[in-house]
Formats: sequence, structure tokens, C-alpha cells
Amino acid sequence: MAAYSDTVIDHFENPRNAGEMDTPDGEATVRNPVCGDRMQVMLRIDGERIAKMQWLTRGCPPAIATSSWTSEHVEGWTLAEAEALTREAIAEGIGGLPKDKVHCSVLAADALRRAIADYRTRTG
Ligand code: FES
Repeated sequence: MAAYSDTVIDHFENPRNAGEMDTPDGEATVRNPVCGDRMQVMLRIDGERIAKMQWLTRGCPPAIATSSWTSEHVEGWTLAEAEALTREAIAEGIGGLPKDKVHCSVLAADALRRAIADYRTRTG
């Protein structure tokens, strides 16, 4: 774990907003093609804003940490702001990732974007 930032370790050891959400307004599950790890994102939407994001991730420490960090940060964001969140911004937010773990930040960004797309599909 020495190669991980304090932020990664903190979110990995104390994950925020992990768990299942009852009747989410939007949800998506994505699989990382590089390693096969999986993340499910569930969203509660209030108007055009994210009221709550919860997640279930089966993956490595950076996958857990980026899930947790993202769920904490997008609360209160507009859907457009959340859609614009890049994997690079997430990786930067958690204090950077070792080179061979950069792909791990993909899950949170992709799952969030797809969960918003699911919400938009449901609400027309
Ligand atoms: S090794 Fe799979 S997401 Fe990190």
C-alpha cells in the first residue's frame, strides 16, 4: 500500500456511501475491461441535482477509494457537472495513482455517467 496516497488509503479503509440503495432513480454497473473489476452506482436525483450516490464495488483498493471519493464529492452537484467529471480529475482528487493503477479510476467516472444516462432514459 506504500505507493498509495493518504487519501486513497483513507477512503479504502473508511469507505463512504458504500451499500445498496432502495429504488434508485438511476443506476448502472460497469466492468473494467483491463482487470474485470466491477462497480455499481445508484443515484438519488432531486431536480437536476444528485442528492445521494451509493455504490457497490468489487475491485482493488484504488477502485474502492475512487468509488468512495466520487460518491462524497458529487453530492449536490448538477447532473451536467457530474457528467463532466473525468477519470483524470478523480485520480487527481485522490492524490494520484501509481502508473499501473491509473486504469482503476475509469470505473467511477464511467459508472456515474451511465447511471445518469439511465436516469435520463427513465425520465425521458
Ligand atoms: S485493478 Fe481493477 S479497477 Fe483496479
